Amino acid sequence: MLKLFLHNPQAVGEDLLVQMMHDNLSVLERAQKGEERYRDSQDWLDTDVCAGEDVLTRIENKAREIRENADAFVLIGVGGSNNAARSAIKALEPGGTEIIYAGNTLNPHALTKMLDSLDGKDFYIDCIAKNFETLEPGSSFRILRAYMDKKYGDKAAKRIIATGTAGSTLDALCRKEGYDFFEFPLNIGGRYTAISNVGLLPMAVSGIDIRAVVRGAHDMQAALHTGDPMDNPAYRYACVRNVLYGKGYRLEMLSSFEPRFRYFYHWWEQLFAESEGKDNKGIFPVTGEFSEELHSIGQFVQDGSPILFETFLDVADRADALVIRPDRYADYFDYLDNVDFYDINRAAYQATVKAHSEKLPVMTLELGALDAYHFGQLFYFFQFACYLSCAVMGVNPFDQPGVEAYKKWMFDALGK
Ligand code: PA5
Repeated sequence: MLKLFLHNPQAVGEDLLVQMMHDNLSVLERAQKGEERYRDSQDWLDTDVCAGEDVLTRIENKAREIRENADAFVLIGVGGSNNAARSAIKALEPGGTEIIYAGNTLNPHALTKMLDSLDGKDFYIDCIAKNFETLEPGSSFRILRAYMDKKYGDKAAKRIIATGTAGSTLDALCRKEGYDFFEFPLNIGGRYTAISNVGLLPMAVSGIDIRAVVRGAHDMQAALHTGDPMDNPAYRYACVRNVLYGKGYRLEMLSSFEPRFRYFYHWWEQLFAESEGKDNKGIFPVTGEFSEELHSIGQFVQDGSPILFETFLDVADRADALVIRPDRYADYFDYLDNVDFYDINRAAYQATVKAHSEKLPVMTLELGALDAYHFGQLFYFFQFACYLSCAVMGVNPFDQPGVEAYKKWMFDALGK
């Protein structure tokens, strides 16, 4: 199971943390039971509800059909409608059907490149949109439908899928045009949909073992819903964040020496920024892709304004090996002779933890391995921890009123 270590507990204050955990026990209890006031947002809490056998079987059948009939699959979606799937697919590199991303930009250059990348390929598309009002997926869906009409004529509809809420305009469009329709769970907001049709269909098409993902989430659910609250890692993490927030820390940096987490960072940033950043409260989520960014933001972290704390995401499993062999060149790197890059990367991680611990509060979340099962654990862990952190802070974890502000001006400008 995922483990949480505080590297410099004195920076948090063990007594303050214990107090915070005692004072908020009812928050954990309520989250474990499911809260009436958030009933329309909580179906992700139970993996049997959001990813039961019928959901998995239908996804697997559709994924098989797509793999047999396509070279590529275009995931049209933005924010909660693409971040989870993309984070797992990019990290796990499953090697199945190529996944192409659309619906997450309005930039014509990026969209033209996306269309160019489809040249000569057979493909399916899946438009994932909860309300089907968001501009990015709606506009990408249009250009892709036109592209498909041209390429496949009256056979295009067989290659078009949509994932939307029952009764939405997207549902109506699917019925009219004969597109395959998958349900976007009504009682889950976008950023909490990793373990549902939204995240799992693209993962399955890419070749990820989605049953392993769901098993990981399910096991994490069991672990976080039972046992001594003081040993509950999600609750502890949520309370550490709140103690540090109370001490004036305003940024959390999620860092790792595993570059395959790049798109997971996007998922994590959205989850915490949209869930917690409201009512003039919240911890701003930032990320550190190490070792590369030690040579840029590392300076600020070690020596700049003391506004942030750091959470390392570490993978326990020793996976790859690449040994540097001695050679005849006088490059003064002989100390690396016969050393494995795994150990070099570890040394850099441990040294960074030491150095940063002298300046800021630092903790590590240790994941067993980088595979489908552990990705499922990670999704569930952070979703649950984020809910708890918001509840302790006193904000609604499931709405996002702030994202509407710019849209009014944009839709005015576009004449909507
Ligand atoms: O978490 C959320 O609910 C949002 O970030 C949405 O996922 C995002 O805005 C995309 O919305 P939609 O799926 O309706 O296009």
